[in-house]
This record gives sequence, C-alpha cells and structure tokens, in this order.
Amino acid sequence: MKRVDDFRLKFGNKELVPIVIGGMGVDISTAELALEAARLGGIGTISDAMILDVSDKLFGTDYTKQKARLYRSNISNFDKSGIVFDPNLIADATRRQVKAVMEAKRGEGMVFTNCMEKLTMNAPKETLRARLTAALDAGIDGITLSAGLHQGSFKLIEEHPRFRDAKLGIIVSSVRALQIFLRKNARLSRLPDFVVVEGPLAGGHLGFGAEDWSKYDLATIVEEVLQFMKAENLAIPVIAAGGIFTGSDAASFLERGVSAVQVATRFTVANECGLPANVKQEFFKASENDIEVNTISPTGYPMRMLKNSPATCSGIRPNCEPYGYLLEDGKCSYIASYERELKLQPDERKVFVKDKTCLCTYMRNYNVWTCGHYTYRLKDTTNKLPDGSYQPLSAEHIFRDYQYSTDGQIMLPKLGF
Ligand SMILES: Cc1cc2nc3c(=O)[nH]c(=O)nc-3n(C[C@H](O)[C@H](O)[C@H](O)COP(=O)(O)O)c2cc1C
Repeated sequence: MKRVDDFRLKFGNKELVPIVIGGMGVDISTAELALEAARLGGIGTISDAMILDVSDKLFGTDYTKQKARLYRSNISNFDKSGIVFDPNLIADATRRQVKAVMEAKRGEGMVFTNCMEKLTMNAPKETLRARLTAALDAGIDGITLSAGLHQGSFKLIEEHPRFRDAKLGIIVSSVRALQIFLRKNARLSRLPDFVVVEGPLAGGHLGFGAEDWSKYDLATIVEEVLQFMKAENLAIPVIAAGGIFTGSDAASFLERGVSAVQVATRFTVANECGLPANVKQEFFKASENDIEVNTISPTGYPMRMLKNSPATCSGIRPNCEPYGYLLEDGKCSYIASYERELKLQPDERKVFVKDKTCLCTYMRNYNVWTCGHYTYRLKDTTNKLPDGSYQPLSAEHIFRDYQYSTDGQIMLPKLGF
C-alpha cells in the first residue's frame, strides 16, 4: 500500500509534500502552525479573519480600541451602516501579519493565507481588494479564497505585479461551483493554481445544507471534479479536504488522482494550534453525539461545532463597533435576531438568542468550538494521562503521521513527550 510520502504536489518545478494544513480563523491556524507545515515541506495556512483584532493580539497595535472609540455613539443603534473599515488599516495589519510569517519561514514548503470572502466588512469589494493586495505585497506564497463564490475576486488584483506568480486557489464544494468560477473568470486568462474540493465532513463553515450535508460525500465530488478537469483538458491540481483523518485516507485520495490533501481537525489539538488548552481538551473528550451542524453563524453558511460551545444560545449585545466583520449594508443577521428577542423578552435582564450568534465576538474569544466531523476520533490519536486529560501533540508529530503511516494506523506520541 502506498503512503503519502510516495507522492509530491508539483507547482511548476517546485515539489512539496502533498499535505496542506487548512486555514482556521480566527487565529486557530496560527503562524507557528503554518510555519511547521512549511518547514516540513508541505503547505501551512494562516487566516486573515478579523485581521485588525489579530494584529492587536500579536503585534500590540490598537486598531480595535480605536475603532470602538470612533463608533462609540452608535452602540445602541441597530443600523450599523455608518461603521466603515479603513482599507488602509486593513492593508497595514495584513502586511504586518504576512511579513512576520514570511520572514520566519524556513524549509522548502509554502505558507498561504486563507481569505474568507464572507467577511464583508460593510464594503465587500474594497476590503477584499485591500486584504488580497496587502498579502501579495508582503510576499505570501499563495492565497486560498474561501466561503464565497469568488466570482469577481481574481479581477480585484489583476493589476498586481504578483497576480501571475503567487499561487491563487479557491475552495469549492461541487463541480458546479468550479464551473461557474471558471466561466466568470475566463476573460482574465488566469486559471486558479489549485482547487480545494471540500466535502461535508470538514470543520468551519460548510458549502452544504445543514439538513442534507450527510447525503454528499467527498470521494464522489472529487471524482466529478477530476472527470471535469480531464474532459476540459485542465491541469489544475485538485486538493481534497474534509474528513481525511489518517495517512491511509490521504494516500487513497492521492491514488485516485488528487494532487494533495488539505487537513485541519487533527491539528486542532497540536501545541502550535491557537485554541486554548481547555478547548483542546473539549475536542479530545467529544463523542460523536456532541457534534452538530447548525445554522447559528450569521454568514448564512451552516457550521459544524461542539454542541456545548459557549457561543450557542447567548444573547450579548451586538459588538459591531469594535468588530463588525460580517456587516453588509449595515446589517448582520445576528443583529436582527437580537433585536427581535429584545422585543419578545422586554422584561428580561438577559436575553437569549437561539437562532444566531455574535460570531465576531465569540470566534475572537475562542468560544465557537467549530470542528470537523471526526473530532470525536481525536482521543485515539494520543495518550490519556493519569489525571484524565489527553496529551497534546506537536504539529510535527501529526504531520509525519499523515506523511508516513499506512494501514489506517495512527502513531501515538511518546508518553509525556
Ligand atoms: C477549527 C476549524 C476552523 C476552520 N476555519 C476555517 C476558516 O476560517 N476558513 C476556511 O476556509 N476553512 C476553515 N476550516 C476548514 C479547514 O481549513 C479544512 O479545509 C477542513 O477542516 C479539512 O477537513 P478536516 O478538518 O476534516 O481535516 C476550519 C476547520 C476547523 C477544524
């Protein structure tokens, strides 16, 4: 049986270990995690989600405080259309983040940034242009566009000197989404350098319905995409993602013709992952019944998470003055739900909102415990310690396990190591 290390992802004359650690916002896939993937010869991904706030945390800037101060008088107003993100500040913060990671990069691998288009920031085009341009300016190896239709995104940066040299890719969950993208971008004569095909078992937001995700499966969608590529004579590397839990799972996708796999859930319990230690233990402890796909994200995309995430059923006041990353024309569906509940529960000191959550606030505080379907198997990837907790792992250990393991096996870490 073949193993992942028998394959290579080829980008021009560069050959990489065909393992991509997927982007996990907000700062769950840290620079440290991405740098490990690159050092080991694969691809790591940072995320630019809530970039101003992440910059404050990592680099001591105070963008969020200043923004909160600027819009303080708007707090009790449910119309948030006056909240403007300054594209120059977004660009500054992005450049700082990307420059730091690229300067620290060692080894033969690459670092990409994950750019969620649904972070519309009250001005989708302008803010997306600022994010993409700044990442390219600061030397990012590649950009993965996610959570969106990506239709006009390449066009936003077609004048950038690195437009044809940086690796630009998209995430799709169906062959149809890929076809639409290619049709809309035909005029640019610039194909994506890679296409991530993400199936229904992934973590984060999903490209499937909350009710029908289980009717789809990654292998079938990948096969449809590969057939389409063949029929159209397209040589774009396809990267399979979602529920690839062992090295053997990965090798079987590579044998079927994908160029690499994108994985994330196994790395959520790595030392280098940004989740707090107590949340990593929640992930280890989870059973299959503790995980659900729900619709509480105001993005409109279903999201997989642990049912006991602190973000569920909370009713905090919308926090758009400091954050507001999901605002579109001054609106976010959490604001609408919160306003409705205020009217329904006028005498309550604390309101509860069940159908939506304030994603910005809770993602920032690591209280949305989004996770992949196979999170309940994480406990089988490590040792249970005498105090009942699970031993966190190094990213290198997990990466090497994907790279070299066979026969569905998972290598446990040395006890206490
Ligand atoms: C905790 C977590 C957060 C994620 N956040 C994002 C994100 O911000 N953007 C994105 O495109 N994908 C996100 N994903 C999806 C991953 O990048 C990846 O494609 C997918 O989870 C791979 O499947 P696996 O987790 O089963 O290995 C997230 C996944 C997890 C587990």
